[in-house]
Amino acid sequence: MANENLNVKDLEGIAASDSERIADEIAIEDTEQVAEAEAVRAEAEAAEDAAASARAREAADDETVEGVTPIIFLDDISVTFKTRTGSLFNPNRVKAVQHLSLKLNPGETIGIVGESGCGKSTTANVMCGLQQPTEGRVFFKGEDVTKRSAAQRKLIGRVISVVFQDPATALNARMSIREQLLDPMNVHAVGSSADREKRVHELIGMVGLPESVLDALPGQLSGGQRQRVAIARALSLSPDAIIADEPTSALDVSVRAQILNLLMDLKHELGLSMVFISHDIQTVRYISDRIVVMNKGTAVERGRAKDVFENPQDDYTKLLLGAAPSLLHPDLGK
Ligand SMILES: Nc1ncnc2c1ncn2[C@@H]1O[C@H](COP(=O)(O)OP(=O)(O)O)[C@@H](O)[C@H]1O
Ligand SMILES: [Mg+2]
Repeated sequence: MANENLNVKDLEGIAASDSERIADEIAIEDTEQVAEAEAVRAEAEAAEDAAASARAREAADDETVEGVTPIIFLDDISVTFKTRTGSLFNPNRVKAVQHLSLKLNPGETIGIVGESGCGKSTTANVMCGLQQPTEGRVFFKGEDVTKRSAAQRKLIGRVISVVFQDPATALNARMSIREQLLDPMNVHAVGSSADREKRVHELIGMVGLPESVLDALPGQLSGGQRQRVAIARALSLSPDAIIADEPTSALDVSVRAQILNLLMDLKHELGLSMVFISHDIQTVRYISDRIVVMNKGTAVERGRAKDVFENPQDDYTKLLLGAAPSLLHPDLGK
């Protein structure tokens, strides 16, 4: 037999090529299985995505008021960030907001609540045109502004103002309060210089500050006073809506209620729409007509403030309501 002539070396050779062949087969089987699993996963994800879209749309439909054009309409938006982690061609992604729909109608206040990192600020930034959504569309008084042309951004800037958490960073440290209040009016070329000066005095009165602060620099004011200046600045162009992103979180506990009261008063006096954002559900309750509870980038519950508080449906909302006292801690939600 031919085999009898084979020596040990040959046998080893056969064995090696055999095991390579078998390994190859297994590998092929493996990649096929991986591809199959990948396809199944992708399909499940697409189905989940479509369902989330449908839920978002339905929620926004519920917010439609007959014959009223919302000031802001987020139509099923998602925002994904690429992060610095991961490789150059395969960066990790953070889904900051997923399938969120929302209508802000004239004169109403929507509270957005959820823990730090749930996507509140990203949502606020999309609403005021600072951030373009990765998916979905943004309408502003009925006009599609998803692409945010320069002209559209300017228009949005006139009609929607933002009040940020930290007035120290929102204000220019080297400009007097008068200059800070004049600045938006100068940029948008509003009225004569006498008109603008008159408006500055009006604004400073509206936020309950004495005229003497007009010549001061931000650093000479207290945190609460600075936030009042930031609010006055936000009001300077008579916006339709204000987006207040954690406006009291950076302030001393003792002045938080004052700023909250000021925003409530202004909202009523001026008929403003407002989006009030906070990690603290009790603060949101105080000021909002409607509430949206966000968790991990999605709206998990929404409805009239009273209903959400008295009869929360979602477990996460219940958790927030139960955990409210600890969330009042000033360092949380930054
Ligand atoms: N510019 C960015 N680049 C990468 N990730 C971001 C960026 N902005 C926000 N994120 C991430 O998106 C998520 C939502 O953030 P954010 O909207 O600021 O939440 P919140 O305001 O509720 O604390 C977080 O995980 C945050 O780290
Ligand atoms: Mg935030």
